[in-house]
Amino acid sequence: DRGNHRHFMEKEIYEQPEAISRTMSRYIDFAELKSKPIDGSIDFSAIDRLTMSACGTAFYAGVVGKYWFERYARLPVEIDIASEFRYREMPLGPRDAAMFISQSGETADTLASLRYCKDNGLPIGAVVNVQESTIAREANAIFPTLAGIEVGVASTKAFTAQLTVLASLSIIAGRQRGTIDDAREAELCQALVEIPGLMTKALNEIQPQIEKLAQELSHYKHVLYLGRGTSFPLAMEGALKLKEISYIHAEGYAAGELKHGPIALIDEKMPVIVIAPYDAVFAKTVSNMQEVAARGGRIILITDAEGAAAADMETMATLVVPKVPEIAAPIVYSAPIQLLAYHTAVFMGTDVDQPRNLAKSVTVE
Ligand code: F6R
Repeated sequence: DRGNHRHFMEKEIYEQPEAISRTMSRYIDFAELKSKPIDGSIDFSAIDRLTMSACGTAFYAGVVGKYWFERYARLPVEIDIASEFRYREMPLGPRDAAMFISQSGETADTLASLRYCKDNGLPIGAVVNVQESTIAREANAIFPTLAGIEVGVASTKAFTAQLTVLASLSIIAGRQRGTIDDAREAELCQALVEIPGLMTKALNEIQPQIEKLAQELSHYKHVLYLGRGTSFPLAMEGALKLKEISYIHAEGYAAGELKHGPIALIDEKMPVIVIAPYDAVFAKTVSNMQEVAARGGRIILITDAEGAAAADMETMATLVVPKVPEIAAPIVYSAPIQLLAYHTAVFMGTDVDQPRNLAKSVTVE
């Protein structure tokens, strides 16, 4: 039932504050601002490396997770696309653990990667939405996303629920590894607890601007997304969302890679969507934006009020998102990238919930 939404995708975008909150309550004690105990089959203090593997949107969630585990738990993370991981014969050792991320829990390549790690004797964790799935069954520890059934082929609430689990686990891992003390844990948990409210605020505040912008965007054939730090995987996710439902060619790049090739593409026919919360790397991203502007590129900047003021640039549009704590940014900034892809596709008249050539669950290699 789509309720009063035109598509399941739209409904699922707006269900996110609730899905995030429900998922988070499994891992975080909202009242005590502490992490909750998890399944003991994965002990983050007993490992030297975490190997993650997934496909598509779930892979991008994993890349954000890598930044978090490395920053908050000082745990090195290897992450790869499952279709590559399963065949590249990665050496695995006794102080490794593996983590797989999958909405459906049935993705063939992700499952094959899981079995490779299991055969190598690694403890297996799985971040899954469908809890009666094969991946959930074969894992040692299940870290559920409680997003509810996701109908739209383009993943939205499952993605932000995956991010919620990974953010929570990075705090839990930090506690187990002694890199986070009580005060830091409380601070990070407080930041997480604010996310559902910030997400609601972001969705509501961007809405009036987004339709006009989407209409404009629907006239372009190519779009480039840029981001730095955790905004880099979000740039890749934004590009994937746009291409899969609107069929506009889009690419996501790390902002710092711009000058190593993609800058050659920049002209007034290829808008550049820059995801840049006002954080520690903001100024670096602004200098990449200036490079785009100097070559006649048109910029859509997604930032907060401070970022908008500090950037002080001529843009095609500036989408202003509420100010968010660092760990919350990738989740809250999912709102504008999803809405932009959604409304662009609606303008183009595509089958948003069932895009051509795509299936919700990819059970063949
Ligand atoms: C994109 C999308 C796909 C899936 C990918 C993995 O919107 O939905 O890229 O993320 O096929 O699927 P799961 O998470 O079921 O393993």
